[in-house]
Amino acid sequence: MAPAAEIVFDRVTKRYAGRDAAALQDLSFEIPAGTFCVLVGPSGGGKTTALKLVNRLVPFDSGDIRIDGRSIRDLAPVELRRGIGYVIQQVGLFPHMTVGANIETVPRLLGWSRERRAARVAELLALVGLDPADAGRYPAEFSGGQRQRVGLARALAADPPLLLMDEPFGALDPITRHRLQIEVRRLHREVAKTVIFVTHDIDEAIMMGDRIAILREGGVLAQYDTPDAILAHPADDFVAAFIGEDRALRRLALHRVGDVPLGPVRGQTPDTPRVAMSTTVRNAVSLMVETGRDAVVVVADDGAECGELTLADATRLLAA
Ligand SMILES: Nc1ncnc2c1ncn2[C@@H]1O[C@H](COP(=O)(O)OP(=O)(O)O)[C@@H](O)[C@H]1O
Ligand SMILES: [Mg+2]
Repeated sequence: MAPAAEIVFDRVTKRYAGRDAAALQDLSFEIPAGTFCVLVGPSGGGKTTALKLVNRLVPFDSGDIRIDGRSIRDLAPVELRRGIGYVIQQVGLFPHMTVGANIETVPRLLGWSRERRAARVAELLALVGLDPADAGRYPAEFSGGQRQRVGLARALAADPPLLLMDEPFGALDPITRHRLQIEVRRLHREVAKTVIFVTHDIDEAIMMGDRIAILREGGVLAQYDTPDAILAHPADDFVAAFIGEDRALRRLALHRVGDVPLGPVRGQTPDTPRVAMSTTVRNAVSLMVETGRDAVVVVADDGAECGELTLADATRLLAA
């Protein structure tokens, strides 16, 4: 099995019985292997339906979905789903089974030996930031955020080339949610799988996605591009309204001052703001506005001055 799968939606239309409006209308887009793709849009836009079509929990009417060039219609549902990890908001762990037993559900179905399963469980618990020694505890003994981590470990257990995640952090408090967003991005760098991640939260989409597909009501694809391209050039008024009037600042949040060409440090006073390399350009600009200055000095971890970022530099980034 390839480590990551290419997914193609090819003019997919889905209508639920008894409904006039389509849930998905002529949906076409391609997700290159290894991409973290976020499906975002208002409630009822067809996001959950799109995921359920991929693992054939729901049939579609016309068009096709291909995984690595093969139509999912030609794959047996059971075989198909073993190659797909699925994470949902209500994580659906079996309460009477230990966390370890939950995680090794698919490996057990695949007939892995006890030793191999135990080793995989320990490896996965560490990967998702839990203590491998907790494999013998029960789901009720974990917090909501920890249970989502267990759900993620379970989805990754058999090393599927595709991960579907449907609003996985929707029920978590903002701090836990932010922590998990960062963790999942880190995890994606390590495991390099294709991910389709659903959210209704544009902030989450911008933070998580290599690419973002914006669905509008009626399951119509409004725009599909990188976060930066969508923020720079919203396709229409719907997208512009959805991403918000502060889209220039959101774009600046995608850049860190350490990754931007810096100018030499000009005359500075003791109260010139100083920021670390990891500061976003958005936060650097915020600091300029707050202090009434047109520049910040960027400093390395050891305190050495790396250069200066000016308001004009930030404007130039937006023009790029
Ligand atoms: N099982 C179903 N039967 C009939 N209509 C459904 C069903 N599931 C979803 N829908 C309808 O399809 C549309 C898309 O729903 P959904 O995919 O859940 O959107 P989202 O996840 O973006 O909120 C909505 O209008 C919803 O009411
Ligand atoms: Mg949904």
